[in-house]
Amino acid sequence: MTIEEYLKQLNTKTESFQDVYEYAVNNRVPIIDSDALTVLKQLIQLTRRKKILEIGTAIGYSGLHMLSVNKDITLTTIEKDEASYDISKENFLKHGVSERVNGILGDAKEVELEDTFDLLFIDASKGNNKLFFEKYSPLLTDDGIIVVDNILLRGQIVEENLHSKNKIKLRDKVRQFNEYIYENYPSASFLNVGDGLLIISK
Ligand SMILES: C[S@@+](CC[C@H](N)C(=O)[O-])C[C@H]1O[C@@H](n2cnc3c(N)ncnc32)[C@H](O)[C@@H]1O
Repeated sequence: MTIEEYLKQLNTKTESFQDVYEYAVNNRVPIIDSDALTVLKQLIQLTRRKKILEIGTAIGYSGLHMLSVNKDITLTTIEKDEASYDISKENFLKHGVSERVNGILGDAKEVELEDTFDLLFIDASKGNNKLFFEKYSPLLTDDGIIVVDNILLRGQIVEENLHSKNKIKLRDKVRQFNEYIYENYPSASFLNVGDGLLIISK
């Protein structure tokens, strides 16, 4: 067993939202890794976050987990795929949190929000991380936190011999975003957790 496998076991809390997790696995819906989820939830707990904005709902798995940290938490979450959005709605209803969720069906590149939030979780099309960061981080309170998932692109971020043009383009865009954060946010943490988690304080 590798250290990564050992830790993954310890970080996996299978009792929560198992139905949603299994649907995601069986239908190849990409969801946050369990160890990254543990860090995200711990961060929400420790910093007492109350108003979360998520870019990339998928079927509501990460949303359900974030809401489960505390009953005071509300979630605004944006998803552009209608089928996923519909399933997320059902999942939020089934797990009794619909009243705390503002689910938005739309392209996060175009959605306009006026509310403020204390945590922004970016987990949509990875090539648009910078766009989402620039568009939505101004909505954060002064003590706001931004979390970005998949900053390592399953290892492709350091792969010099990619053969597909699309993969090269995506790798370069995510690299540019990571470097932009490195240069402008000295306290940002680039973590080797899950598929790479980036934590930035505003
Ligand atoms: C990695 S999945 C989200 C997983 C979810 N956060 C979780 O961990 O349970 C990314 C989702 O972002 C959505 N997405 C991609 N680009 C988007 C955009 N421009 N606007 C809104 N949603 C987008 C995809 O349809 C997909 O469902």
